[in-house]
Amino acid sequence: MKLKTKDLLTLNELGNAELVEIIDNAIKMKKDLKKGISKPLLKNKTLAMIFQKPSTRTRVSFETGMFQLGGHALNLSADELQLKRGETIEDTSKTLSRYVDLILARVYSHDEIELLAKNSSIPVMNGLSDSFHPCQTLADLMTIQEKKKKLAGLKLAWIGDGNNVCNSMIYGCAKTGIEISIATPKGYEPNPNVVKESSKLTDVKLSNHPETAVRGADVVVTDTFVSIHHQTTDRTNDFLPHFQVNSSLMKKASPSAIFMHCLPAKRGQEVTSEVIDGPQSVIWDEAENRLHAQKALMVALLRV
Ligand code: CP
Ligand code: NVA
Repeated sequence: MKLKTKDLLTLNELGNAELVEIIDNAIKMKKDLKKGISKPLLKNKTLAMIFQKPSTRTRVSFETGMFQLGGHALNLSADELQLKRGETIEDTSKTLSRYVDLILARVYSHDEIELLAKNSSIPVMNGLSDSFHPCQTLADLMTIQEKKKKLAGLKLAWIGDGNNVCNSMIYGCAKTGIEISIATPKGYEPNPNVVKESSKLTDVKLSNHPETAVRGADVVVTDTFVSIHHQTTDRTNDFLPHFQVNSSLMKKASPSAIFMHCLPAKRGQEVTSEVIDGPQSVIWDEAENRLHAQKALMVALLRV
Protein backbone atom coordinates (compact mmCIF):
# COMPACT_ATOMS: atom_id res chain seq x y z
CA MET A 1 0.00 0.00 0.00
CA LYS A 2 1.39 3.40 -0.99
CA LEU A 3 -0.02 6.42 0.81
CA LYS A 4 0.01 9.78 -0.96
CA THR A 5 1.01 11.57 2.22
CA LYS A 6 4.42 11.48 3.91
CA ASP A 7 3.01 12.44 7.32
CA LEU A 8 -0.12 12.01 9.45
CA LEU A 9 -0.75 15.23 11.36
CA THR A 10 -4.54 15.75 11.30
CA LEU A 11 -6.10 12.71 9.52
CA ASN A 12 -7.14 14.91 6.61
CA GLU A 13 -3.99 13.81 4.76
CA LEU A 14 -5.52 10.39 4.09
CA GLY A 15 -7.73 9.66 1.11
CA ASN A 16 -11.05 7.97 1.90
CA ALA A 17 -9.95 4.65 0.41
CA GLU A 18 -6.54 4.86 2.12
CA LEU A 19 -8.23 5.33 5.48
CA VAL A 20 -10.53 2.34 4.97
CA GLU A 21 -7.57 0.23 3.86
CA ILE A 22 -5.58 1.09 7.00
CA ILE A 23 -8.58 0.14 9.16
CA ASP A 24 -9.05 -3.15 7.30
CA ASN A 25 -5.35 -3.96 7.62
CA ALA A 26 -5.45 -3.15 11.33
CA ILE A 27 -8.36 -5.54 11.84
CA LYS A 28 -6.48 -8.24 9.95
CA MET A 29 -3.27 -7.65 11.95
CA LYS A 30 -5.28 -7.90 15.17
CA LYS A 31 -6.82 -11.23 14.12
CA ASP A 32 -3.40 -12.54 13.07
CA LEU A 33 -1.81 -11.50 16.35
CA LYS A 34 -4.52 -13.34 18.31
CA LYS A 35 -3.64 -16.45 16.25
CA GLY A 36 0.03 -15.96 17.09
CA ILE A 37 0.94 -14.60 13.65
CA SER A 38 3.06 -11.42 13.66
CA LYS A 39 5.05 -10.54 10.54
CA PRO A 40 8.32 -8.61 11.06
CA LEU A 41 7.30 -6.01 8.46
CA LEU A 42 9.39 -3.27 10.09
CA LYS A 43 12.53 -5.29 10.79
CA ASN A 44 15.55 -3.00 11.23
CA LYS A 45 13.34 0.11 11.31
CA THR A 46 13.53 2.59 14.17
CA LEU A 47 10.81 4.86 15.49
CA ALA A 48 11.74 7.97 17.50
CA MET A 49 9.01 9.06 19.90
CA ILE A 50 9.15 12.63 21.24
CA PHE A 51 6.85 13.39 24.17
CA GLN A 52 6.40 16.95 25.42
CA LYS A 53 3.38 15.82 27.46
CA PRO A 54 2.53 12.70 29.51
CA SER A 55 1.09 9.61 27.82
CA THR A 56 0.12 6.07 28.72
CA ARG A 57 -1.66 4.62 25.68
CA THR A 58 0.18 6.41 22.88
CA ARG A 59 3.61 5.66 24.23
CA VAL A 60 3.01 2.03 25.16
CA SER A 61 1.01 1.14 22.05
CA PHE A 62 3.58 2.63 19.65
CA GLU A 63 6.54 1.04 21.42
CA THR A 64 4.83 -2.35 21.65
CA GLY A 65 3.60 -2.12 18.07
CA MET A 66 7.08 -1.41 16.78
CA PHE A 67 8.44 -4.34 18.80
CA GLN A 68 5.77 -6.68 17.40
CA LEU A 69 6.68 -5.59 13.86
CA GLY A 70 10.33 -6.45 14.44
CA GLY A 71 11.47 -2.83 14.75
CA HIS A 72 12.76 -0.66 17.55
CA ALA A 73 11.30 2.39 19.34
CA LEU A 74 13.22 5.12 21.16
CA ASN A 75 11.35 7.08 23.80
CA LEU A 76 12.64 10.66 23.85
CA SER A 77 11.26 12.95 26.50
CA ALA A 78 11.44 16.49 25.11
CA ASP A 79 13.04 17.51 28.43
CA GLU A 80 16.00 15.24 27.79
CA LEU A 81 16.70 16.37 24.25
CA GLN A 82 18.76 19.44 23.33
CA LEU A 83 15.38 20.99 22.45
CA LYS A 84 15.15 21.74 26.15
CA ARG A 85 18.32 23.88 25.83
CA GLY A 86 17.10 25.75 22.79
CA GLU A 87 18.10 23.62 19.81
CA THR A 88 15.52 24.31 17.14
CA ILE A 89 12.80 21.92 16.02
CA GLU A 90 14.18 22.26 12.49
CA ASP A 91 17.64 21.04 13.52
CA THR A 92 16.21 18.29 15.71
CA SER A 93 14.08 17.08 12.82
CA LYS A 94 16.97 17.07 10.34
CA THR A 95 19.19 15.22 12.82
CA LEU A 96 16.61 12.54 13.63
CA SER A 97 15.99 12.03 9.90
CA ARG A 98 19.61 10.83 9.54
CA TYR A 99 19.22 8.15 12.25
CA VAL A 100 15.69 6.79 12.34
CA ASP A 101 12.93 5.85 9.90
CA LEU A 102 9.84 7.34 11.50
CA ILE A 103 8.96 10.01 14.08
CA LEU A 104 6.03 10.16 16.48
CA ALA A 105 5.60 13.40 18.42
CA ARG A 106 3.22 14.59 21.12
CA VAL A 107 3.45 18.37 21.25
CA TYR A 108 1.67 21.30 22.84
CA SER A 109 1.27 23.42 19.76
CA HIS A 110 0.23 21.98 16.40
CA ASP A 111 2.66 24.41 14.69
CA GLU A 112 5.52 22.46 16.25
CA ILE A 113 4.55 19.16 14.65
CA GLU A 114 4.06 20.93 11.32
CA LEU A 115 7.60 22.30 11.62
CA LEU A 116 8.94 18.88 12.55
CA ALA A 117 7.25 17.33 9.49
CA LYS A 118 8.34 20.10 7.14
CA ASN A 119 11.99 19.63 8.06
CA SER A 120 12.12 15.84 8.16
CA SER A 121 12.88 13.56 5.26
CA ILE A 122 11.00 10.74 7.03
CA PRO A 123 7.32 10.32 7.99
CA VAL A 124 6.06 12.17 11.06
CA MET A 125 2.99 11.06 13.03
CA ASN A 126 1.05 13.28 15.40
CA GLY A 127 0.64 11.57 18.76
CA LEU A 128 -1.58 14.45 20.00
CA SER A 129 -1.28 18.18 19.56
CA ASP A 130 -3.53 20.92 20.91
CA SER A 131 -5.53 20.68 17.66
CA PHE A 132 -5.60 17.05 16.45
CA HIS A 133 -5.25 13.40 17.51
CA PRO A 134 -5.34 11.38 14.27
CA CYS A 135 -3.99 8.10 15.71
CA GLN A 136 -6.89 8.07 18.16
CA THR A 137 -9.37 8.45 15.32
CA LEU A 138 -7.83 5.51 13.45
CA ALA A 139 -8.36 3.30 16.51
CA ASP A 140 -11.85 4.69 17.07
CA LEU A 141 -12.97 4.00 13.50
CA MET A 142 -11.46 0.52 13.71
CA THR A 143 -13.45 -0.10 16.91
CA ILE A 144 -16.67 1.15 15.34
CA GLN A 145 -16.10 -1.07 12.28
CA GLU A 146 -15.53 -4.10 14.54
CA LYS A 147 -18.60 -3.45 16.68
CA LYS A 148 -21.05 -2.28 14.01
CA LYS A 149 -19.62 -4.14 11.00
CA LYS A 150 -19.83 -0.96 8.92
CA LEU A 151 -19.00 2.75 9.02
CA ALA A 152 -20.93 4.51 6.24
CA GLY A 153 -24.45 5.43 7.25
CA LEU A 154 -23.86 5.32 11.01
CA LYS A 155 -24.63 8.25 13.32
CA LEU A 156 -22.06 9.42 15.84
CA ALA A 157 -22.72 11.91 18.63
CA TRP A 158 -19.85 13.87 20.17
CA ILE A 159 -20.73 15.40 23.54
CA GLY A 160 -18.62 17.95 25.45
CA ASP A 161 -15.51 19.78 24.33
CA GLY A 162 -14.96 20.33 20.58
CA ASN A 163 -11.30 19.57 21.13
CA ASN A 164 -8.28 17.97 19.40
CA VAL A 165 -9.80 14.48 19.50
CA CYS A 166 -13.09 15.86 18.16
CA ASN A 167 -11.39 17.64 15.23
CA SER A 168 -9.71 14.47 13.99
CA MET A 169 -12.94 12.53 14.60
CA ILE A 170 -14.84 14.94 12.33
CA TYR A 171 -12.36 14.28 9.52
CA GLY A 172 -12.62 10.53 10.18
CA CYS A 173 -16.42 10.57 10.03
CA ALA A 174 -16.41 12.64 6.85
CA LYS A 175 -14.01 10.28 5.10
CA THR A 176 -15.94 7.15 6.06
CA GLY A 177 -19.50 8.45 5.59
CA ILE A 178 -20.51 8.62 9.26
CA GLU A 179 -22.95 11.43 10.17
CA ILE A 180 -21.63 13.40 13.14
CA SER A 181 -23.64 15.52 15.56
CA ILE A 182 -21.61 17.58 18.01
CA ALA A 183 -23.03 19.14 21.17
CA THR A 184 -20.76 21.58 22.99
CA PRO A 185 -21.32 24.50 25.34
CA LYS A 186 -21.14 27.85 23.55
CA GLY A 187 -17.51 28.79 22.93
CA TYR A 188 -16.26 25.17 22.89
CA GLU A 189 -17.04 24.36 19.24
CA PRO A 190 -14.58 22.37 17.10
CA ASN A 191 -12.29 24.03 14.53
CA PRO A 192 -14.59 25.82 12.03
CA ASN A 193 -12.34 25.00 9.05
CA VAL A 194 -12.51 21.30 9.86
CA VAL A 195 -16.30 21.53 10.12
CA LYS A 196 -16.58 23.45 6.87
CA GLU A 197 -14.34 21.10 4.92
CA SER A 198 -15.92 17.95 6.35
CA SER A 199 -19.46 19.19 5.69
CA LYS A 200 -18.77 18.69 1.98
CA LEU A 201 -18.50 14.95 2.61
CA THR A 202 -20.95 14.19 5.42
CA ASP A 203 -23.62 15.72 7.62
CA VAL A 204 -21.84 17.64 10.42
CA LYS A 205 -24.29 19.14 12.92
CA LEU A 206 -23.28 21.55 15.67
CA SER A 207 -25.53 22.38 18.60
CA ASN A 208 -25.56 23.13 22.31
CA HIS A 209 -28.05 20.33 22.99
CA PRO A 210 -26.71 16.89 23.99
CA GLU A 211 -30.23 15.37 23.94
CA THR A 212 -30.68 16.38 20.30
CA ALA A 213 -27.19 15.23 19.30
CA VAL A 214 -27.58 11.71 20.74
CA ARG A 215 -31.03 11.08 19.25
CA GLY A 216 -30.75 7.85 17.22
CA ALA A 217 -26.94 7.78 17.58
CA ASP A 218 -25.14 4.46 17.04
CA VAL A 219 -22.01 5.75 18.76
CA VAL A 220 -21.76 8.22 21.65
CA VAL A 221 -18.33 9.76 22.30
CA THR A 222 -16.96 12.16 24.84
CA ASP A 223 -13.58 13.29 26.17
CA THR A 224 -12.22 15.06 29.20
CA PHE A 225 -13.37 18.66 29.76
CA VAL A 226 -9.81 19.72 30.57
CA SER A 227 -7.20 18.67 28.01
CA ILE A 228 -3.50 18.48 28.86
CA HIS A 229 -2.68 21.76 27.13
CA HIS A 230 -5.26 23.75 29.11
CA GLN A 231 -3.79 25.76 31.94
CA THR A 232 -7.01 26.00 33.91
CA THR A 233 -9.59 23.63 35.38
CA ASP A 234 -12.22 26.39 35.65
CA ARG A 235 -13.73 25.17 32.39
CA THR A 236 -15.53 22.31 34.16
CA ASN A 237 -18.34 24.60 35.33
CA ASP A 238 -19.19 25.42 31.71
CA PHE A 239 -19.88 21.73 31.00
CA LEU A 240 -21.63 20.42 34.10
CA PRO A 241 -24.26 19.14 34.52
CA HIS A 242 -25.62 19.42 30.99
CA PHE A 243 -22.73 17.93 28.97
CA GLN A 244 -22.15 14.81 31.05
CA VAL A 245 -22.77 11.45 29.37
CA ASN A 246 -24.93 9.61 31.90
CA SER A 247 -27.50 6.81 31.72
CA SER A 248 -30.37 9.14 31.05
CA LEU A 249 -28.54 10.66 28.03
CA MET A 250 -27.50 7.21 26.76
CA LYS A 251 -31.18 6.13 26.85
CA LYS A 252 -31.92 8.78 24.21
CA ALA A 253 -29.41 7.22 21.77
CA SER A 254 -30.11 4.06 19.77
CA PRO A 255 -30.72 1.08 22.14
CA SER A 256 -27.70 -0.64 20.57
CA ALA A 257 -25.46 2.45 20.86
CA ILE A 258 -21.87 2.01 21.99
CA PHE A 259 -20.04 4.45 24.25
CA MET A 260 -16.46 5.52 23.46
CA HIS A 261 -13.82 7.63 25.21
CA CYS A 262 -10.16 7.98 24.22
CA LEU A 263 -9.07 7.97 27.89
CA PRO A 264 -7.85 9.12 30.34
CA ALA A 265 -11.35 9.72 31.77
CA LYS A 266 -12.63 11.60 34.77
CA ARG A 267 -15.54 9.58 36.12
CA GLY A 268 -18.27 11.82 37.53
CA GLN A 269 -17.32 14.65 35.17
CA GLU A 270 -17.67 14.07 31.40
CA VAL A 271 -19.08 10.57 31.99
CA THR A 272 -20.59 8.64 34.88
CA SER A 273 -19.13 5.32 36.09
CA GLU A 274 -22.45 3.72 35.22
CA VAL A 275 -21.87 4.49 31.53
CA ILE A 276 -18.09 4.15 31.12
CA ASP A 277 -17.99 0.92 33.13
CA GLY A 278 -21.38 -0.26 31.86
CA PRO A 279 -22.46 -2.72 29.13
CA GLN A 280 -22.53 -0.19 26.27
CA SER A 281 -18.94 0.94 26.85
CA VAL A 282 -16.25 -0.34 24.46
CA ILE A 283 -13.38 1.68 25.92
CA TRP A 284 -10.99 -1.23 26.50
CA ASP A 285 -11.30 -2.50 22.93
CA GLU A 286 -10.86 1.11 21.82
CA ALA A 287 -7.68 1.46 23.88
CA GLU A 288 -6.36 -1.89 22.62
CA ASN A 289 -7.03 -0.89 19.03
CA ARG A 290 -4.50 1.93 19.28
CA LEU A 291 -1.90 -0.82 19.01
CA HIS A 292 -3.33 -2.47 15.91
CA ALA A 293 -4.36 0.72 14.09
CA GLN A 294 -0.93 2.31 14.58
CA LYS A 295 0.86 -0.82 13.40
CA ALA A 296 -1.17 -0.64 10.19
CA LEU A 297 -0.41 3.08 9.95
CA MET A 298 3.35 2.67 10.37
CA VAL A 299 3.44 -0.10 7.77
CA ALA A 300 1.48 2.11 5.37
CA LEU A 301 3.66 5.19 5.94
CA LEU A 302 6.84 3.18 5.41
CA ARG A 303 5.29 1.68 2.27
CA VAL A 304 6.09 -1.93 3.14
N1 CP B 1 -5.84 8.41 24.38
C1 CP B 1 -4.54 8.73 24.53
O1 CP B 1 -3.90 9.30 23.65
O2 CP B 1 -4.02 8.34 25.73
P1 CP B 1 -2.58 8.77 26.32
O3 CP B 1 -2.66 10.22 26.65
O4 CP B 1 -2.44 7.90 27.54
O5 CP B 1 -1.54 8.48 25.29
N1 NVA C 1 -8.21 15.86 24.75
C1 NVA C 1 -7.26 15.16 25.57
C2 NVA C 1 -6.91 13.85 24.97
C3 NVA C 1 -5.90 13.04 25.74
C4 NVA C 1 -5.52 11.79 25.06
C5 NVA C 1 -6.04 16.01 25.78
O1 NVA C 1 -5.60 16.70 24.85
O2 NVA C 1 -5.52 16.00 26.90
